[in-house]
Amino acid sequence: MTTPTVQANDKVHLIDHPLVQHKLTLMRRKDASTNTFRTLLNELSMLMAYEVTRDMPMQEIEIETPLEKTTSRMIDGKKLVFVSILRAGNGILEGMLSVVPGARVGHVGLYRDPKTLTAVEYYFKMPHDMQERDIVIVDPMLATGNSAIAAVERLKELNPKSIKFVCLLTCPEGIAALHNAHPDVPIYTAAIDRQLNEHGYILPGLGDAGDRIFGTK
Ligand code: URA
Repeated sequence: MTTPTVQANDKVHLIDHPLVQHKLTLMRRKDASTNTFRTLLNELSMLMAYEVTRDMPMQEIEIETPLEKTTSRMIDGKKLVFVSILRAGNGILEGMLSVVPGARVGHVGLYRDPKTLTAVEYYFKMPHDMQERDIVIVDPMLATGNSAIAAVERLKELNPKSIKFVCLLTCPEGIAALHNAHPDVPIYTAAIDRQLNEHGYILPGLGDAGDRIFGTK
């Protein structure tokens, strides 16, 4: 079976900055240590935060410099929320928060029911006033899309202003699944890999992101 290639478009933002691509290549290598992997993920997350926040609303405010009064621009509205899909999503949080330190953080925990293969929620904790906030969901790998779809579905119940999805890697199958379920959610990714294998891993990928971040197996 051939897998369709997916081009970046207004719903799939491919972050192909040289620094992002360089760091991602180092992370993919199987001999990268846990420490190296985590450090690179942190650096990459900062660069991705920069892209995903590019269209944040701004307001003009009056300030006084040491020399005179002027107007200058600041980010407007309620604080952004980063929602981490446990556990690998937590690997992206630190980098994102170092660029947007005032952001709020939510967590969603989901596991795959071995019988039905559907995502079952075991944890959900969000900041208040979600209907006034923009949400950025973070998870390093958008593979089958099942967790992403379930997380978006659950978050939509809270009626937020907007939802974006950020991952390091995805594949045509993951993009198609998330977009079929939630066409209004843009995806930000550093790479669109070839395909998903029969175990739900992305090829060529980087392996199990959670294990590589936390040094587990
Ligand atoms: N989750 C991972 O950690 N890696 C994959 O390749 C797919 C899903």
